Amino acid sequence: MSDIKITIVDREGVRHEVDAPTDMNMNIMELVRAYELAPEGTIGICGGMAMCASCQCYILNDVVLPEKNPDEDAMLWEAFNVKDNSRLGCQIHITPEIEGLELELAPDM
Ligand code: FES
Repeated sequence: MSDIKITIVDREGVRHEVDAPTDMNMNIMELVRAYELAPEGTIGICGGMAMCASCQCYILNDVVLPEKNPDEDAMLWEAFNVKDNSRLGCQIHITPEIEGLELELAPDM
């Protein structure tokens, strides 16, 4: 088993602690979809290409994430409801290093 725990606060404010596999090459956007924590069609619209910001989330704790890549940075520059702790879920890969990450889904666009 190589699951880690990730806490996701959905758009209704409900907290979900979920098991996230580190060996399936998944990202946070795909995890949210897999657990159906956001309605179909409201997250992952661009398929994880950093081109839609539907997967925007706010990082709630101090788990250290890899730096944003230029595509993520550019998309967040244009997106709505962006805060200092905004990230794109599709650009955060599920690895053992992010065990315990807590995040909140940004409002639907
Ligand atoms: S799914 Fe489109 S930017 Fe992440």
